[in-house]
Amino acid sequence: MEFLDNLVLPQSLEHIRLINYLLILIFLLFIPYIGVLLVTSVLSVIYRSKGRREGNENFTEFSAALIRVPTLNKSIGVILGIIPLLTITLMIAQILHRANTFILEFLLVAFLLGSIGIILIYTYRYSFDFEGIYNRITPQIGDKDLLEELKRTSGGSTRLAAKSGLWGIGLLFFGLWFLLSAVTMILHPSLWEKDAIFVLFDWRVILYAFQFLALSCAITGAFILFSYYYWEGGITNIKEEFSDTLKRVSIHLTFWGALALPGIMLISLLALNPRFLSGGIFTFSTIALILLFVLYNLVYAMVKNRNIKFSGPLFFLVIFIALSVIIKDQIAMGNATAPHAVVLNAEFESYLAELIGERGVAEVSGKEIYDVRCASCHTFDQRLVGPAFNNVLTKYEGNMEQLVSFILNPAKIDPQFPPMPNPGLRPNEARGVAEFIMETYKK
Ligand code: HEC
Repeated sequence: MEFLDNLVLPQSLEHIRLINYLLILIFLLFIPYIGVLLVTSVLSVIYRSKGRREGNENFTEFSAALIRVPTLNKSIGVILGIIPLLTITLMIAQILHRANTFILEFLLVAFLLGSIGIILIYTYRYSFDFEGIYNRITPQIGDKDLLEELKRTSGGSTRLAAKSGLWGIGLLFFGLWFLLSAVTMILHPSLWEKDAIFVLFDWRVILYAFQFLALSCAITGAFILFSYYYWEGGITNIKEEFSDTLKRVSIHLTFWGALALPGIMLISLLALNPRFLSGGIFTFSTIALILLFVLYNLVYAMVKNRNIKFSGPLFFLVIFIALSVIIKDQIAMGNATAPHAVVLNAEFESYLAELIGERGVAEVSGKEIYDVRCASCHTFDQRLVGPAFNNVLTKYEGNMEQLVSFILNPAKIDPQFPPMPNPGLRPNEARGVAEFIMETYKK
């Protein structure tokens, strides 16, 4: 998004690190909230139509109770839904400034669709209040005409409510899909070369969506149990039948969500470019796994003893699992954008130098990328893990494109060497470092 990109300036490394930390914080608030909102709305719409079809008031009541969970009041949707979507977009615009990709377009679409989706879900939620009032006043109305008219209006509003529920869920879902695609692109630079439509249906995006859904189901179930049976001693005057539905659905959600998580996490770790792995990612993945194991036991105990007095611990456990999973992904995102941060820092310094009149002090530097990403395996005149550049660069003279494409996507070449791992650079970074090694080698 050019106008978004023009809005921001290159940042220093310290700033980018700060933005990365803030992003972690925002994702920590946003993902659990939006997950609960999505899952409860879907269930609410399902149980509402089920209740209507079977004339079962329990289901209708359950449906209303569900949607009230994430929409307690209006500001929650704005504070935990719409504002984070916007801030995420702006912050990633900073981190990927001039990276020349459509990630920002994706984020903008996510923001628009997501916001409208949230508003529509709120519309759906308020329709329940209207219906409640309607059901209370109709028995008291003697006037036949008035009653007829009220029935008509109410019918229309019910249909509208059902529609806004469905549309809200649909838009929110697609908005989130774009957000997840953007995050997946950041984690997998090889996707940058592809067309947007292929990115949206890449298997890694689908994997990430599954992780999000599994996490959301686990949180939602635990949160419902927590707010009904634990918070402030629990709600006491619930009808038995209603309460049974509530418990059954919540436990199932948490259990199946939590059960799916380890496999998904493992595959996404294996799919990640090894260059982006770091100790932190393993630490937080391990923490998540241990907590998940505790959770299975807790759920088992709850189902076996048919009691829900562990709802409190269960909820906190799920929250800590969610935090670990989100932090692990954010660390990976930070690692993935680190080389670009080096480029931005160089730009920032030359920008600063220009401001204070010292032209040409720093330039966007392939050298820094070389130092961080290549020097561990390559020097110019000695063989390390990889060949000495002086021995291999001759064939690339006058053939910069081929060199850039090798660096972006190393192929197996010389049987005397192991294959070179993909350094995970952006196209412009690969070009920078290619120019640098070519120039240095010629000297
Ligand atoms: C983990 C070690 C490692 C890192 C890091 C690494 N390389 Fe390599 N590189 C290798 C190995 C091993 C080969 C030999 C691959 C082969 O012949 O199949 C190689 C080969 C090359 C070649 C020669 C290709 C050819 O046509 O023979 C170039 C050019 C190159 N690397 C550039 C880079 C650049 C630029 C970076 C940093 C962005 C980098 N490498 C980072 C291990 C590494």
